[in-house]
Formats: sequence, structure tokens, C-alpha cells
Amino acid sequence: MTQPAVLLTNRLLLLYQSSIGKKLLTGITGLTLALFVTVHMLANLTLFFSPAAYNQFGHVVEQLWPLTYLIELVLALGVILHASLGIQIWRTKRRARREAYAVYLSAGQATENPSYQNLSSRSMVVSGIVLGVFLVWHLLTFKFGLRYAVSGTEMRDLARLVIETFQQPLYTVSYVTVFGLLALHLRHGLWSAWQSLGALNRHLRPLAYSLSLAMAVLLALGFGALPLAIYFGLLSQ
Ligand code: HEM
Repeated sequence: MTQPAVLLTNRLLLLYQSSIGKKLLTGITGLTLALFVTVHMLANLTLFFSPAAYNQFGHVVEQLWPLTYLIELVLALGVILHASLGIQIWRTKRRARREAYAVYLSAGQATENPSYQNLSSRSMVVSGIVLGVFLVWHLLTFKFGLRYAVSGTEMRDLARLVIETFQQPLYTVSYVTVFGLLALHLRHGLWSAWQSLGALNRHLRPLAYSLSLAMAVLLALGFGALPLAIYFGLLSQ
């Protein structure tokens, strides 16, 4: 390895090991994944216009090779880094809280800032783990699942796969439940990421807090609309 590469690797390792670096990397990877999730939700909505448009979109993305592989690599690394850092931060906080309890410090005594703690912030690890398990199931179902082809072409008929999948109650109920947990995760995650990047001050914080809630709800509704419409027969092939 050349000297600049060694220096860069050392700096990245130092960043990964420091607590401020962990928060920064969790924020950056979280926002990158949230951007993907937003684009994915909007792309899904094309199925409401026409199955052909949905399949065409999937096909165009597939044809973007090698860019597609690069995006997939960034996503895979992002998920792994985000999950492992998130668990490390959670464990450090839990240890610190136990020590704080040992000297009888209440939350009010421990901080002068108003608390932004809620169900969403307290369930980050649980919602994160469920989303991780969901992602494996999701990829096995859609990305590596049945390969229908649009007749007379080599194009994947993803629209047929999505429609057939959500005609089954197991998928629709599980997916809608997961979207609730996704909203819970993003409700705290989005706001907290901007906070970790140092982008918020006393004035911007309440705005970012409300925008995170709005964004989380919109994403869950946008994702949930498709399985529900298919399941209740409003959308078919
Ligand atoms: C109703 C909701 C959803 C539907 C219908 C849906 C559909 C799909 C389909 C059809 C694919 C395969 C695309 C292809 O192979 O070209 C896919 C891939 C993927 N989905 Fe979803 N998805 C949904 C929700 C989600 C959510 C909530 C997440 C993340 C939390 C997610 C993450 C992914 C990822 C990471 C991929 C792989 C992307 C790639 O490798 O290029 N999806 N999804």
C-alpha cells in the first residue's frame, strides 16, 4: 500500500474507533440508506400507473451496469456499517446508563437540555434488528426470487411477482407491520443523524424533529399503499 493510502486507512480506523466518529458514520450511512429508501418508495409507486412502466424502470436500472453493482456495494457496506455501529453505540449507552444509575443520577440532573427521548429513540436497536431480518427476507423474495419474464423479452416481470406476492396475507400483514417499524426507526434516526453531523442548532432542532416525523409517516404510507391496494384487489395484472 502507498503511504497516502496507509494514512487514509489509519484515519478511517481512528474515526471508526472514536465515539464521535461512530456517531458521524452512523449518521452518514443512515442518511444514505434513507435516500435509497425514499427513491425505492417513489419507484414502487410507478406500479400504480402501469405494470409495464414498473418493469421498464427495473429493466433500465439493471442495464445501468456497472453503476448498479456500485450502488449495491455501497448499500451492502452501508447496511453492515450502520448496523454494527448502531449496536456498538447502544451497548456503550446501556453501560453508561447502568453506571449513572449506580450513583443515583436522574435524567433531569444528568442534562440541562430538553429530552427528545420517546418510544422511537428507545426502540432503535429492536426496530433496526427487525429491519435487518426483513431485508434478508425481502431480497430472497424479490431480488433473488422467482424470475418471470415479460413475454417475448428478456425483461423481468417484477410487476407480476410483486402483485402475486401481496395477494398473500402473510406478506401483506408482515410488510405493513415492518413499515410501521421503519417509520419508528426513521422518526428518531433522521433527526438524530443531522444532529450527529452537527447540522442542527437550538432553532433548527424542533423543525428537524417535526420534519423527521413527517418524512417517516410519508415513507410508511407510500410503501404501505402498494401491498394494501394489491391485497384488497384495487390493483391487479
Ligand atoms: C411494498 C414495498 C416494497 C416493494 C414492493 C419492494 C420491491 C422490490 C423489488 C421488486 C426489488 C427487486 C428489484 C430488482 O431485482 O431489480 C427490491 C429490491 C430491494 N429492496 Fe425493496 N420493496 C419494498 C420495500 C422495501 C423496503 C422498505 C426496503 C428497505 C428498508 C427495501 C430494500 C430493498 C433493497 C436493498 C433492494 C435491493 C436493491 C438492489 O440490489 O439493487 N425494499 N424491492
